[in-house]
Amino acid sequence: MNISTPLLLDTSFKKEVFEGLTAFPKYLSSKYIYDAVGDKLFQDIMALPEYYLTNAEFEILSTHTQAIAELFKDSAEGFDLIELGAGDGKKTKVLLKHLSENNYNFVYKPIDISENAINDLKSSLSKELPDLQVDAEKGMYFEVLERLQQYNSRKKVLMVLGSNIGNLLHPRAIEFLSKLRGIMNEDDLLFMGFDQKKNPQTILDAYNDPTGVTAAFNKNLLHRINRELGGNFEVDKFKHWEVYDPESGTAKSFLVATQAMKVEIKSLNLNIELDPWETIHTEISQKYTDKVVNWLARESGLEIETSFTDQSNYYKDYVFRKK
Ligand code: AVI
Repeated sequence: MNISTPLLLDTSFKKEVFEGLTAFPKYLSSKYIYDAVGDKLFQDIMALPEYYLTNAEFEILSTHTQAIAELFKDSAEGFDLIELGAGDGKKTKVLLKHLSENNYNFVYKPIDISENAINDLKSSLSKELPDLQVDAEKGMYFEVLERLQQYNSRKKVLMVLGSNIGNLLHPRAIEFLSKLRGIMNEDDLLFMGFDQKKNPQTILDAYNDPTGVTAAFNKNLLHRINRELGGNFEVDKFKHWEVYDPESGTAKSFLVATQAMKVEIKSLNLNIELDPWETIHTEISQKYTDKVVNWLARESGLEIETSFTDQSNYYKDYVFRKK
């Protein structure tokens, strides 16, 4: 008879950590990097000179502001601008400022998984753009999508910046895009950033900075398991390793065990062993071409209306409509 207490995997964090660390090869989902420490490390990444993505998208929004605003505009009823994963809103603010100063009729609805990010954004917007109508919400992408159904009294523009879609494998990206399509009406738009294929070295450098911020960002997954699930990972004995496959356009992050290790995770009632040089895969950051984005759109029932790029063609924001 089994008299041991049944294991309670009562959160998706616990469930996914258990699944990933008992799988072969081992993996952990990058979405769990983002606690308060992870959020801060991601802010630091965005300020790194090697992490070109943020500046490239900032450049796009700064140079094509007028054209983007014209696309969003609806003269009759105005529109709702809904941003998923708004973060600190640094890039979006360029556009918001233009829309606000030119008296566009719209409400800005930023959504983010991080309570801190949402609160900071609300207070900075009330200072910087006091006339802007803001309706902020905390929540996970897939959860809030259901609730967004109710935004159908006028045109809505859905925005997902930062190439966040790149953290999903293609089948999951299609699932995500299809869900977005599911809440779109005929006039609605989806404005989404996709990091582009480029010199493989440039990509590798962006995820392998010499100051070690990206390594610390990935390692936060292990720290978080230690903090929240009673784990005893010896984090310093892991090495962050990045690879980029220029054929598939996939950058992959790993934490590599530099020696044999035994790890206990108390609240999962789990003991694992790692062989020397065994890997834990932590993140993918997909890079795209027009062909691939077209294919993703087709598979999701969307079509590309137009796109905007930066001077170096490093990055593209695509505007999609429902097909
Ligand atoms: C949030 N996401 C799109 C970032 C990326 O580029 O994949 C996360 C990141 N990971 C390492 N550096 C940045």
